[in-house]
Amino acid sequence: MNTIQYIKSKLKTTLLAAGMLCAGLYSEAQQKVFKPGQIWPDDKGVHINAHGGGILYQNGKYYWFGEHKVAGDAGNRAMVGVHCYSSTDLYNWKDEGIALSVSDDPKNDIARGCILERPKVVYNKLTKKYVMWFHLELLGKGYAAARAGVATSDRVTGPYTFIKSYRPNAGQMPFYPPFTGQSEKVNCAAPASETDGFFCRDLPGGQMARDMTVFVDDDGKAYHVFSSEENYTLQLAQLTPDYTGHTGKFIRIYIGHQTEAPALFKHNGIYYMIGSGCTGWAPNAARWFSAKSIWGPWVYHGNPCKGADSAITYGGQSTHVLPVAGKKDAFIFMADKWTPKDAIDGRYLWLPISFKGNDIEIDWLDSWDLGVFKK
Ligand code: DGJ
Repeated sequence: MNTIQYIKSKLKTTLLAAGMLCAGLYSEAQQKVFKPGQIWPDDKGVHINAHGGGILYQNGKYYWFGEHKVAGDAGNRAMVGVHCYSSTDLYNWKDEGIALSVSDDPKNDIARGCILERPKVVYNKLTKKYVMWFHLELLGKGYAAARAGVATSDRVTGPYTFIKSYRPNAGQMPFYPPFTGQSEKVNCAAPASETDGFFCRDLPGGQMARDMTVFVDDDGKAYHVFSSEENYTLQLAQLTPDYTGHTGKFIRIYIGHQTEAPALFKHNGIYYMIGSGCTGWAPNAARWFSAKSIWGPWVYHGNPCKGADSAITYGGQSTHVLPVAGKKDAFIFMADKWTPKDAIDGRYLWLPISFKGNDIEIDWLDSWDLGVFKK
């Protein structure tokens, strides 16, 4: 960020905070509804800065982690780190500060100015550590590195210590569950498609890992889902018992169809995944999948969004699906409405997911509250 961008960013933040204070001591004005796409002030009256985020529910509190963006088009690079907020009611968020800071050493993997996207935090019961995974692109290398990064902390809000970044599952072939058809098996002696070719090219050094999420199953096993093979194919890979590495067991999902922004959840024993297409920062249609086993087969079902602007996910792109604690059948679809020319102004679209039998549906609402969930 240059000096002018820095001053602009500070001025924007200060004006917003001042405006909120004039409107009557913001921190005391409790919010009671979600307003998708609008400015969402935190406890200090500043628009929440946690983009491409995910939420961990732990000991009665929700913790929202996301990319801290800065003003202007440089704002999509990681100038600060991963921001954390906490909440007990999901409407009102307390700024908990920067959970993972970028490094001042330009040689560090997470050097200031690198690209650090879609952080997700999970808790490991065996090690009692909080584990943060993210998509990492090395400083000055554009989107070429395509690595997964991991950091851990003893405290949920951090500070997190960066451990390593790499491309997962070097030298490993996919796991083929019994249902897998012969045509799904990759043959590196004669790759059958462009995406198979990328898979085979990356076999020795590890698979590309970009847009991502992490999911912990009821049995404590954790999975990392990421856009791989030049974003052509999603991979779902098992993490080691301490959640800080990959076991080498993984599958490929919706091969060759360019799925980004994966968000995974489980409802009534069925696994669901919502993702997007691949159009940079511009919105496209969401897509959803379901599976009876985490290892698939993952069945493609098309767009879960309905009504006006459903073909562009109401201007957003999925990032996480949040199960609401203590409520049955209550899941929130979380998406980002990116503003790449002024990244800090990116908005959040949170919408309830409706279940129609085993199908899901998402509808636009200008304003809503948790009362929409019946139980
Ligand atoms: C879409 C991805 O979902 C984002 O996380 C980001 O990587 C942009 N592409 C970059 O164009």
